[in-house]
Amino acid sequence: MIARLSLTDFRNHADSVIAAPSGFVVLAGDNGAGKTNVLEALSLLAPGRGLRRASLSDMARQRGGGGFGVAATLADGVTIGTGTLGQAPERRVVRVDGVATPATALAERLSVLWLTPAMDRLFVEPAGERRRFLDRLTLALAPGHAHQAARYEAAMRQRNRLLGEGGSDVDPDWLAALEARMVEHGAVLDAERRATVAALSARLAGVEDDAFPRADLAIEGWEGAPDQLLRDLAGGRARDAAAGRTLAGPHRIDLAVTHREKDQPAALASTGEQKALLLGILLAHAELVADRTGRPPVLLLDEVAAHLDPLRRHALFDRLAGRGQVWMTGTEARLFDGVPDDALRLEVSGGRIDPR
Ligand SMILES: Nc1ncnc2c1ncn2[C@@H]1O[C@H](COP(=O)(O)OP(=O)(O)OP(=O)(O)O)[C@@H](O)[C@H]1O
Ligand SMILES: [Mg+2]
Repeated sequence: MIARLSLTDFRNHADSVIAAPSGFVVLAGDNGAGKTNVLEALSLLAPGRGLRRASLSDMARQRGGGGFGVAATLADGVTIGTGTLGQAPERRVVRVDGVATPATALAERLSVLWLTPAMDRLFVEPAGERRRFLDRLTLALAPGHAHQAARYEAAMRQRNRLLGEGGSDVDPDWLAALEARMVEHGAVLDAERRATVAALSARLAGVEDDAFPRADLAIEGWEGAPDQLLRDLAGGRARDAAAGRTLAGPHRIDLAVTHREKDQPAALASTGEQKALLLGILLAHAELVADRTGRPPVLLLDEVAAHLDPLRRHALFDRLAGRGQVWMTGTEARLFDGVPDDALRLEVSGGRIDPR
């Protein structure tokens, strides 16, 4: 968990500091106050581009010093810092205990999972969004997952470029080497995702909580054994060259989600049902991760309370209580009346954070 968070020139926060407890942190404030910005800053403490997938220059405060910084002290004393302060605007550094490290290494220190209003459309969006969601879940169980994904994608980009250059000048050995690398990392990537779906499915099957509908999960779109991927790649060069991208492989899978009781694809469920399904998946996963790794993920729940009826809202608070650190936002403080007394309640206003 995060014991202390500080934002420097991050979005509308010039200089905000939060000393956080192990349980709930509740951020209330008007629209545009800077609540989601705090969650976004926290999401940068995990590998990837954060919960908005924004460019680095967008995150640096306008009329600030030029760069931004996000720093955290974890409960075990480890410090994590990331940002562009003192760097070129599109260069972000990550430091663990002051030492520069690849962003993928952050997963060794901390798991961060989030739910935002934009994710309400997750089940109707293109497969890439669900893949990203699945990878985020997987990362919490397999900290090396981001590294595997990065290596797979780097090899794939090089292969695509090589095929795009085309003609007879393409070096077949180089192509074969890139494909071997894709198979190496793709096999791990794929196995980690499937293990996550299997473990989470088993977990979801055992959940007794009527507040959130049960989901069935499956991986679709590509059935891969490593030797199959090698054949797909080697045999698909002409096809991939014509398409300008790699048409088969673990980067093509989709996470299929079904509303179990209704036996319907999640995309057909109502907006509220989709939200509750997603929340049910996230809660079950957080519990799974805590049990498996002994390290509950930090949960960032943006505007979640506002979209739940009072019964479900209280069910959510009950289920989260005593289960690690949860950061929640809402425009009204009374939405959080049901959270435990030891919660930290903050008021956000114009990029400033005050106790309430
Ligand atoms: N780079 C930036 N520099 C300064 N301000 C920024 C920057 N990027 C965004 N903002 C400001 O941050 C504010 C939005 O903050 P945020 O999304 O955290 O609001 P919020 O409190 O979550 O509001 P809502 O309740 O509407 O979701 C906006 O007023 C926006 O103009
Ligand atoms: Mg917001």
